[in-house]
Amino acid sequence: MNNNTITATTKLCAIIGSPVEHSLSPLIHNAAFKQLELNYVFLAFKVEHLEEAVMGIRALNLKGVSVTIPHKVEVMDYLDDVEEVAKKIGAVNTVLNQEGRLLGYNTDWSGAIRALEEKIELKNKKTILLGAGGAARAIAFGLKEKSADVTILNRTVKKAEMLASELNCQYGGLELLESSKPDILINTTSLGMYPKVGDTPVKKEFLKDMLVFDIVYNPLKTRLIREAEQNGCTTIMGLEMFVNQAALQFELWTGRKAPVELMRKVVVEKLL
Ligand code: ATR
Repeated sequence: MNNNTITATTKLCAIIGSPVEHSLSPLIHNAAFKQLELNYVFLAFKVEHLEEAVMGIRALNLKGVSVTIPHKVEVMDYLDDVEEVAKKIGAVNTVLNQEGRLLGYNTDWSGAIRALEEKIELKNKKTILLGAGGAARAIAFGLKEKSADVTILNRTVKKAEMLASELNCQYGGLELLESSKPDILINTTSLGMYPKVGDTPVKKEFLKDMLVFDIVYNPLKTRLIREAEQNGCTTIMGLEMFVNQAALQFELWTGRKAPVELMRKVVVEKLL
């Protein structure tokens, strides 16, 4: 990056979380700012004390903040307003500073739904969601919003049950997968994520005639995605969700349309 472009009027955006050392958000947002010649810069801050960090956002007048693990839930306590869907999901991954008012949004769900809707209409589709953590929660609310027929399967069945009762959908243990015939299979567990790239949540022979979406984006092509491709399934890599959620953040912070192709390219180059 060329530091000479930073001036006294440069707007600052940042990611806050812990850990953040391996975050790709600075790369993707700075590339997008540069492409559109916007006087913005994006940094990563490792934050342990969230309330103080949010006071810092106000005091230093940061324009936008990306919020990551472990702060996505607690951050809602310190904002001035939170959009309805983020309230329902119970997590905020994006903060916009609108003339001193801090507004919370969730672009994880919309990033995932945008990626799915580019490939398939969601209404009434039999959809299995593997996992019941934060990411599953955001995507499940999005799927319900689009009237998909959702079943949540999780290693810890109790967690699947709790989420399913909020959403009024079916649930069960991971073993139920093998007796289901979904139109869409979405992996939100961390199985297959770097460095354990040999792991997969689903046996290859099960992956037939369905759309397979893995939210894991490192590696770009997880074992699940590779095996789904080999069996002729339509696939969506986690990269798409990552790029979309970042593009939606960028649009909130700058009011400009995000250069999605470029954002995808810089992440692919980094992860290849
Ligand atoms: P995130 O916020 O990214 O969704 P999370 O809240 O830690 O992360 O959720 C991780 C999900 O991956 C959980 O559903 C977890 O299952 P449990 O609820 O049983 O812990 C699932 N998961 C992680 N490792 C797993 C493994 N080895 N086998 C099966 N599921 C796994």
